[in-house]
Amino acid sequence: MCGIIAGIKKENVVHDLINCLKKLEYRGYDSAGIACFENHRIERYRSVGKVSELEKIVGSKYSNIGIAHTRWATHGMVNESNAHPHLSTRDGFSVCVIHNGIIENYKELKVLLIKQGYRFESQTDSEVLAHLLHAERKKSSSIIHALQTVREKIVGAYALVAICDKDPNTILGTKKASSLVLGVDEENKQVFLSSDPNSLSGILNQIVFLEESDIVCLEGTEFSIYNNAFNKVDRKITMLDVNNDSVSRGKYQSFMQKEIHEQPNAVAMTLENFLDENSLTAGLFGDIAKRVFGQVEQIIIIACGTSYHAGLVAKYWIEELAKIPVSVEIASEFRYRKSVIKNKTLMIGISQSGETADTLAALNLARNLGLEWIFGICNVQESTLMRICNLSFITRAGPEIGVASTKAFTTQLASLFILALTLAKTKSHISVQDERNFLTQLRHLPNAIASILHEEQNIKNWVKYFQNKQNVLFLGRGIHYPIAMEGALKLKEISYIHAEAYAAGELKHGPLALIDENMPIIAIAPNDDLVHKLKNNLEEVKARGGKLFIIADHGFELQEDTCTKIISLGDHAGFLSPILHVIPLQLLAFHVADSKGHDVDKPRNLAKSVTVE
Ligand code: G6P
Repeated sequence: MCGIIAGIKKENVVHDLINCLKKLEYRGYDSAGIACFENHRIERYRSVGKVSELEKIVGSKYSNIGIAHTRWATHGMVNESNAHPHLSTRDGFSVCVIHNGIIENYKELKVLLIKQGYRFESQTDSEVLAHLLHAERKKSSSIIHALQTVREKIVGAYALVAICDKDPNTILGTKKASSLVLGVDEENKQVFLSSDPNSLSGILNQIVFLEESDIVCLEGTEFSIYNNAFNKVDRKITMLDVNNDSVSRGKYQSFMQKEIHEQPNAVAMTLENFLDENSLTAGLFGDIAKRVFGQVEQIIIIACGTSYHAGLVAKYWIEELAKIPVSVEIASEFRYRKSVIKNKTLMIGISQSGETADTLAALNLARNLGLEWIFGICNVQESTLMRICNLSFITRAGPEIGVASTKAFTTQLASLFILALTLAKTKSHISVQDERNFLTQLRHLPNAIASILHEEQNIKNWVKYFQNKQNVLFLGRGIHYPIAMEGALKLKEISYIHAEAYAAGELKHGPLALIDENMPIIAIAPNDDLVHKLKNNLEEVKARGGKLFIIADHGFELQEDTCTKIISLGDHAGFLSPILHVIPLQLLAFHVADSKGHDVDKPRNLAKSVTVE
């Protein structure tokens, strides 16, 4: 979603700001803007569409200080007036603000500001911040005191940066429930603020994660940080763990395709710490994990999108292996439900980004209801999610740029399987020999994924059957039903084909009515205990003229014919089968979308990280 970048350096910073905006493009946006100083005055440039449009407008402008933004519309249409930065000019000076998040009391503030004579040009909630900061700057001795007062008056979630031409060497930032980091480079005398540390890769490598309500003041190339009580504080500097290569497409035509192919390595990296040993230890999940895993009686998994599907798969693993009841809930539903949570419940939040607003709100709600044990599975060590959890597991997929999640999903699954095994071991439900066997299978997993990637051409051969379809039905049973759901999600989000997943046993209760020669059916058909049941369901589809596309294992009993296409993935992989069966579905979605000429990395209307409700 929206992205912020701001910086001061000794030379021209405009080019850096544009490059950083390009690195933020993957988050999803519809307009972009930049404000900088020219001859001691604030100049603002905005455009609808790609950052490259803004780049053309900005041309070769020179400024050593600037703030820039990519906007993803929430309040107000996609147009130039609603694009950030928002400017407030009167009484001989200007204030310019960029904001991520939602200001909940913006309507009340707007009424007050209009009474004071401020004129609004946009439909956004964010514009109140520019006028409010202007009004407070007029009354205060410094911009930083003005921002302190603004912070007290606003309700909601925000990461904001601001400049004022009364303070020409200064950029201010503050944050609450939205990400903002400080980037520091003492050697080259430059300081930056960004909503996403990855955007700073290649510019500097020292990062400060701001705490809630911190105000940061960049002055010249120095910085100072003030906490909620307005005391000057030191915050820890950490090294930015991203290299430029991980945020470039390399030899691939899209990030999504690259990320699909990175899965063997991403899974290997994620499992690295666990597979060095011959036995699993709870301690790898945090200091209190052993005690918590021993006592836990119920698990609730909270997530959104693809991460939610990972949670659904984990339910099967944890219940079967560790015999602990698991419920899996969509975060946006859980957070507004009056749920009954028993003592000794472990709450697990799964999130690639660790910044998804609904997931964070649901976990905070659980904490406020008195739940002590909050476990985060996340791909970003420095995320908000990681800071609110007391147990955690970091998936080491590396930055995921494509909006459609792929390597984050398979690394989440690998982590959740390790968690299921560790819970089972702590509860004494698996033998030493079983544990060893599972660890051996996990060691083989990256290679197994790699060999499925070799099926890419076979998958590509199926594209012609889907390209011009309006609807596709995905079928699965048992633990592969969530994989069917994930396959349908992948296809719909990037190819814009309506795709729906059904548990195959439910066919007779509705979807059979949809079956005809225009509705391709993709079936996930591993050789597990349910394969015969699934085969019967597929025969029912064939009998009604349905066209079947089956992702099977060796030994699947149906034969190929004009209405039945089969790709076989090899021997059945037991518990790990979902991690393998999802890969052909990712590849199919990618190639169908690509064949339709879509921008697979940035599908229309979607954002990578959904940081607002
Ligand atoms: C967005 C992304 C999805 C992702 C979901 C949850 O919808 O486009 O790819 O699965 O958010 O994101 P999270 O970062 O919490 O896993």
